[in-house]
Amino acid sequence: MPNVKFYKNEDLPLELHKVRIVQKLNLVPIERRLDALKEAGYNTFGLRTADVFLDMITDSGVNAMSDNQLAAMMRADDAYAGSQSFERMQKAVEDVLGKKYLLPVHQGRAAENVLARTFIKPGDVVPMNYHFTTTLAHITEVGGTIAELLCDDALELSSTNPFKGNIDIDKLVRFIEETGVERIPFIRMEASTNLIGGQPFSISNMLDVRRVADKYGLMVVLDASLLGENAFLVKQREKEWGENSMGDILKMMTGLADIVYFSARKLSSSRGGGICTNRHELYQKMEVMIPLFEGFLTYGGMSVREIEAIAVGLYETLDETMISQSPTFIKYLVETAEAKGIPMVTPPGVLGGHVNAMEFCSHLRQNQYPAGALAAALYLCSGVRGMERGTVSSVRDEQGNEILSDVELLRLAVPRRVFTLSQINYVIDRLEWLWDNRKLIGGLQWVYEPRVLRFFMGKLEPTSDWPHRLMEKFRKDFGDSL
Ligand code: F0G
Repeated sequence: MPNVKFYKNEDLPLELHKVRIVQKLNLVPIERRLDALKEAGYNTFGLRTADVFLDMITDSGVNAMSDNQLAAMMRADDAYAGSQSFERMQKAVEDVLGKKYLLPVHQGRAAENVLARTFIKPGDVVPMNYHFTTTLAHITEVGGTIAELLCDDALELSSTNPFKGNIDIDKLVRFIEETGVERIPFIRMEASTNLIGGQPFSISNMLDVRRVADKYGLMVVLDASLLGENAFLVKQREKEWGENSMGDILKMMTGLADIVYFSARKLSSSRGGGICTNRHELYQKMEVMIPLFEGFLTYGGMSVREIEAIAVGLYETLDETMISQSPTFIKYLVETAEAKGIPMVTPPGVLGGHVNAMEFCSHLRQNQYPAGALAAALYLCSGVRGMERGTVSSVRDEQGNEILSDVELLRLAVPRRVFTLSQINYVIDRLEWLWDNRKLIGGLQWVYEPRVLRFFMGKLEPTSDWPHRLMEKFRKDFGDSL
């Protein structure tokens, strides 16, 4: 279906759904946007949606839900223990992800907390393709560290490598030999490596990871939060799998992992999360954490309505038409912006379009937070809220030195079936204006910097009055328009 051409001459993405519930958006004047930025500490997490036009901060928990999901929420079986809603989620997990034993959690990072506390001891190192912010935070909270073993070219932002999320198998073997299996609790594979631009891994890479894990007797843990879109890109890009169904591909990938966990906020267009496995002894090891941190074993901190929505949403990830929507719009966003000279992460990945802020703001140093500054500047000139994925989202080392991020990205999330094509065109248009005026973007510095996950609550300020100058230029070019 997604390979079908819908127009005679162009391969424009087409909305294969109709919109029946709508929410009004607010496009406030640029003067208000500047005030809102100041109030937010130049951190887009601090903005209120009343001041946001297109909210591209994340896809998490904001993908459009389907009529069938909403309908299922109405028949939820509210019970502290033994709810039939949970049984429906269990069945969906078994049918779609191929795992029998399920532990419910309130969201993805709660699964990471359970995994970290159950399997990681101080001094352990977890090899992975790449970290996600909350994963790293939970691993370091219990005294572990991580080793990122991506292929050498994965951090080349402009690339034609279709699978930049692959682990480098030689590096993995060398790492295991040098570290020793006693200090390796598991190998972690993240579907569609979020922080390097939503880049997928291939099934052949996952097969190699499994082979190495078996050789050394190690466990493989799969973060499946973005598995649906990873599976879609496997179908598009990995020749051997082009003719397989989404169901076959999903099961193939989960079948190679001992434990699969997910943020349902991403995977199934809902809320909540889960950890699943076919190994009963692993299930039992983790089980105790659920009543301790989440809630009883049949709700795990979620409302039963959410659980119903997850069950339906999991089956919907098998629908290629649904799953294709976000990556197809992202591809359009990335390729159209790139054609205008805007430095974008290529190939287009999942979750959102990613702008290479180091190149966009090549006049700024990395410790002036180019990705954070670009996020603030784009909001100012458009009302579009993106997310910094660079050094602001990084951490400091034990001596308090800044650990500069491998990449400086502005992420523009494209949640499933939320934005129309004209809204995407608006984003491209304002990005292009900003690109033409990029030299006006200045740096940021911390005003308040929390110790953990500082990018969420931290506050910054501009290092000069550049936001003002940018606003004046906007006024000159756009007159009174918003
Ligand atoms: N793993 C991955 C790959 C994620 O992208 C996320 C969340 C999590 C784990 C944690 O899940 O939010 O339900 O606790 N990513 C969101 C984002 C926050 O905006 O990219 P959570």
